[in-house]
Amino acid sequence: MIRTQYYIAICLISASLLVATTAYASASVNEVKQRIGNGNPVAGKSKSELCQGCHGEFGLSAEDLIPNLAGQYASYIAKQLRNFQSGARKHEIMSAMAKTISDAELNDITAYFASQKKMQGNGKGGNAVAKNLFLHGDAKRDIPACASCHGVNGKGQAPNVATYPVIGGQHKAYLHAQLAHWRDGERSNSPNGMMNKVAKTLTDAEIEALAGYLSGL
Ligand code: HEC
Ligand code: HEC
Repeated sequence: MIRTQYYIAICLISASLLVATTAYASASVNEVKQRIGNGNPVAGKSKSELCQGCHGEFGLSAEDLIPNLAGQYASYIAKQLRNFQSGARKHEIMSAMAKTISDAELNDITAYFASQKKMQGNGKGGNAVAKNLFLHGDAKRDIPACASCHGVNGKGQAPNVATYPVIGGQHKAYLHAQLAHWRDGERSNSPNGMMNKVAKTLTDAEIEALAGYLSGL
């Protein structure tokens, strides 16, 4: 009798473990699917050879001012490419690069980079000021918490929303440059100018600390 109960308990535990792992696996498969969009990542690999020369074979670049694209949302990557094409986002090299991509290739190329193992920091960098701004913002200066849009780990809000890019684990020098560009208005392609408003009153020291903190996430 005791043996049977023991056996039943073991069965129940294994069954619930199985359910839990299956649910977890399908949740992460879904997350990846939503991040990739409609493109074909396998076809995107050969179509993005030119891009890989700078952004890395797996979307992790070797150069600190060239952003990682690994695990970035396909629709965010596509939006940036459209913005480089139209001039809404300015960068001489990237505008020229973006113009080489045809509409037919766009989905596959963005799917390729989105499907790579997500960029990841080493947990180091930044300071208490940066962490506080990231998690809580600064109400006195009308700065919302970065985490409220970019997610508590800086990985965005997948699978629901792909508007907010992955910034956790991005290169520090690139993050630093973008934050300064948002503040100075040199980059102004965010919806309703939201990033210009967010960065408007950041000090140089805060930008430096935030870039360090985010690159470590
Ligand atoms: C010669 C090097 C080089 C090549 C080749 C190149 N890029 Fe870039 N890319 C850059 C640099 C540098 C930036 C940063 C631009 C800035 O500072 O605003 C960038 C930025 C980007 C961004 C913006 C990322 C973000 O987080 O906002 C995307 C998307 C991108 N590149 C995609 C591509 C694709 C797709 C290709 C291939 C068609 C490509 N790049 C080819 C150098 C390159
Ligand atoms: C209200 C929502 C919102 C808040 C709050 C917010 N962001 Fe953003 N952020 C965005 C959006 C949307 C974009 C993408 C803009 C685009 O489409 O080019 C972005 C882009 C960025 C980028 C550029 C990423 C890249 O790959 O080029 C950086 C860096 C960044 N945010 C940092 C921050 C920091 C640091 C904070 C807090 C001080 C913050 N954001 C708060 C919405 C937000």
